Amino acid sequence: LENGLARTPPMGWLSWERFRCNTDCEGDPDNCISENLFRTMADLVVSEGYAALGYEYINVDDCWLEKSRGPRGELVADRKRFPRGMRSLSDYVHSKGLKFGIYEDYGNYTCAGYPGIIGYGRSDAQQFADWNVDYVKLDGCYSLPLDMDHGYPEFGRQLNRTGRQMVYSCSWPVYQIYAGINPNYSSIIEHCNLWRNYDDIQDSWASLETIIDYYGNNQDVIVPNAGPGHWNDPDMVTSHSIVQHFRCLMFFLRQLIIGNFGLSYEQSKTQFALWAIMAAPLLMSVDLRTIRPEFKAILQNQKIIAVDQDPLGIQGRRIYKHKGIEIWSRPITPIYQTYYSYAVAFVNRRTDGTPSDVAVTLRELGLQSPTGYRVEDLYEDVNYGVLSPNTKIKVKVNPSGVVILSAHVQPERITRTTY
Ligand code: GLA
Repeated sequence: LENGLARTPPMGWLSWERFRCNTDCEGDPDNCISENLFRTMADLVVSEGYAALGYEYINVDDCWLEKSRGPRGELVADRKRFPRGMRSLSDYVHSKGLKFGIYEDYGNYTCAGYPGIIGYGRSDAQQFADWNVDYVKLDGCYSLPLDMDHGYPEFGRQLNRTGRQMVYSCSWPVYQIYAGINPNYSSIIEHCNLWRNYDDIQDSWASLETIIDYYGNNQDVIVPNAGPGHWNDPDMVTSHSIVQHFRCLMFFLRQLIIGNFGLSYEQSKTQFALWAIMAAPLLMSVDLRTIRPEFKAILQNQKIIAVDQDPLGIQGRRIYKHKGIEIWSRPITPIYQTYYSYAVAFVNRRTDGTPSDVAVTLRELGLQSPTGYRVEDLYEDVNYGVLSPNTKIKVKVNPSGVVILSAHVQPERITRTTY
């Protein structure tokens, strides 16, 4: 969607994967979907340094509404959990220098059963504008997938009519794919800033693997659709294991025994690297009060964020897959003549517990510039120097882990001037 927004993939925080539809503010006041949760996360996005790195949207997902509309048909935020209302929360988020996102659904109900926008598109769009919303995620439960071809563009026009610029996040293709319909991506690109193509991410490596495979297996259809203003959305950056406060030891033990908080350190690094290769939105869904420093460091890796936010906006591809080893690569800036720079991720999907060696020449990766490439590791402090296309690089990839490199094409070697 050419509305001037999302020129690079949106970055921020989104409640769903971590906090779900927890409406129990009496029993679980610190974790329920409430204005306090979003205010706290907005505070932390700034104070913990995420905002300075580009994370800017604080996005409310499902379960913020009252079960029925107000007397004039208006949307009403849950009166107990959002006592000051959405405009007040939006003002608070803006006062922190951040942007405010909200969730609705194109159908009769949201996925969790709250009022959807059908029949109210015009007034709901205006209500969002009046609340100074910057980002709208429009889900697709309780609607007919075939209707989406006109319904999503129609709501986009309603948003546009308000005169307020809002990022428009659609779930249009994923519901159509579920229903066996081939999405009309050229229309989706025209009307949405980003869109979900596949299933919800869950807190497990198994879930992450299905998403990685979906984008790899369908890349010929999906990858060409990404670009500045229009992105594929493989869902939240999630599951960076957290540790509860030590306030209560029993509670802490229960967390370990339950064994949720699914991704290991290696797996979290893999998600972040591949999301950057895929030019994915970086929407964290994690408890920023209790995240462990090593997981925070992943989310704050500036070199990988730079890959994700590369201004060319070219989504990467899986270029190799054999016996559990995958190589993913994404063209990035700078460009020299016809040669791109690249980010290259080596992923080990094997289940035997020892690191695997991968050795490959730059030329085999498609890096052919005779001027060579400056190669560095984006997680480890390893610099390979300037390498020619025929140089073989060898990396050791941990089980379910990743090695991600950048290879910046060199400008033509300066020829010596004679005086
Ligand atoms: C759907 C969406 C999720 C989330 C939930 C909320 O499953 O795909 O991202 O918004 O609904 O109910």
